[in-house]
Amino acid sequence: MSKTIIVSNRLPISLRQKNGHYEYKPSAGGLATGLGSIYKEGENIWIGWPGNVVDEPEKRAEIMLDLHQHKMVPVFLSQRDVEEFYEGFSNETLWPAFHYFTQYIAYNPEHWEAYYRVNELFCEAILKRAQPDDTIWVHDYQLLLLPKMLREALPDATIGFFQHIPFPSYEIIRMIPWRSEILEGICGADLIGFHTYDDMRHFMSAVSRIIGLSSESGTIQAENRIINVDSFPMGIDYGKFENQAKSKKTQSLVKEYRKQLGDQKLIITIDRLDYSKGIPQRLHAFQDLLTDYPELHGKVSMIMIVVPSRDMVQSYKELKEEIDLLVGRINSAFSTLNWVPVHYFYRGFPFEELSAFYSMSDIALVTPLRDGMNLVCKEFVASKIDQKGVLILSEMAGASKELREALLVNPNDKRGVVEAIYQALTMEPKEQEQRIRSMQKSLRKYDVFQWVEVFMDRLGHVKAKQAEFKSK
Ligand code: G6P
Repeated sequence: MSKTIIVSNRLPISLRQKNGHYEYKPSAGGLATGLGSIYKEGENIWIGWPGNVVDEPEKRAEIMLDLHQHKMVPVFLSQRDVEEFYEGFSNETLWPAFHYFTQYIAYNPEHWEAYYRVNELFCEAILKRAQPDDTIWVHDYQLLLLPKMLREALPDATIGFFQHIPFPSYEIIRMIPWRSEILEGICGADLIGFHTYDDMRHFMSAVSRIIGLSSESGTIQAENRIINVDSFPMGIDYGKFENQAKSKKTQSLVKEYRKQLGDQKLIITIDRLDYSKGIPQRLHAFQDLLTDYPELHGKVSMIMIVVPSRDMVQSYKELKEEIDLLVGRINSAFSTLNWVPVHYFYRGFPFEELSAFYSMSDIALVTPLRDGMNLVCKEFVASKIDQKGVLILSEMAGASKELREALLVNPNDKRGVVEAIYQALTMEPKEQEQRIRSMQKSLRKYDVFQWVEVFMDRLGHVKAKQAEFKSK
């Protein structure tokens, strides 16, 4: 019986040390939920990094055993790997390049070597468990070399690759000195997926211009195989957000919070700390709104949740300082004794509290400068069980290709964002309802389970086609 192996940089848990013992906190992220239906079945497994540095061999063995019971296999990274592979090449080279932040790209050969080395480490961990005809689904930009490494070792395996972040134009990818190795690495897969058609188009163009493989209408001709490339926009666990919003717990939290905040309009923004999310730009727009429309003072507040992330990387540290400064500036300029314009939280929240924030907010302001998909906007829409609320969404998020009934904005156009917020604040309930309902309809249908099913079906289909082609 062949099995399916899921591979991603992070396992769907995070590891914490408490009183000399390890605790495992399951991840609540969309990917973990969606793929839960796969790796928990039969002989299937999930391979990835547990998120902490563990050096002692006995501790590693203990963790390995514990995770084995949960169908997970850890790949242990050293402190040096974390600095050079994770913070270094993944998040100081690929992340900024793929999000068009060319000013932040580091070109460090040692980081590249570490990236290669860690991709090999993942490959070895997989090869210890994989059979020649297994299906292996590799996720995201931390593991771009892995599909090729796997293909060389397991020529008949079924290999899927999905990239969760944007794929940039050829003009950007060509800046990276190791661009050919990266593209060849991805091309080890049988099926390559992106969130949007544009990402896919950029990838196809880079493959033909940089590594000279001919590509047309969703296929790439490799030496002895045909590779399929397509867009698969990822959804959320719609039912989970809808049910939580309807739950007694969330409803009572909404009442409690609303009582504390009084009768004012609320704008919610939730992001990981990241320069790609456009947080300072959003704050500048909010500041202009309060300057241009003084009648809104005391009548609108922003609830801004920033979830700590990658804070060892310099650009993230600087961003945190910039946000702190901006929030301080806005609140000190506009606050009154009974009104705070920006309620700023630099921490994560439990699911039921997030659900309450989504439910009670009138507007979600989701304005990344660049985002592969963005699930926050989908979570907000799914949580609007009374269909009252307005989504303001950046054109630069993959989700904007699906959520056409949002108020779409260019996040660099500060004036446009200010006017969209004003339009949202004054939108008739009937129009809000029409827009939300229509978005809910498609999000309910194309949820994360559907996404997994479509990708896996397609991967099976591509492999069957290849076998047919070979036997001719
Ligand atoms: C994005 C990436 C993921 C990554 C996540 C959190 O969504 O696509 O691959 O896991 O951010 O970032 P972190 O660096 O904490 O894993």
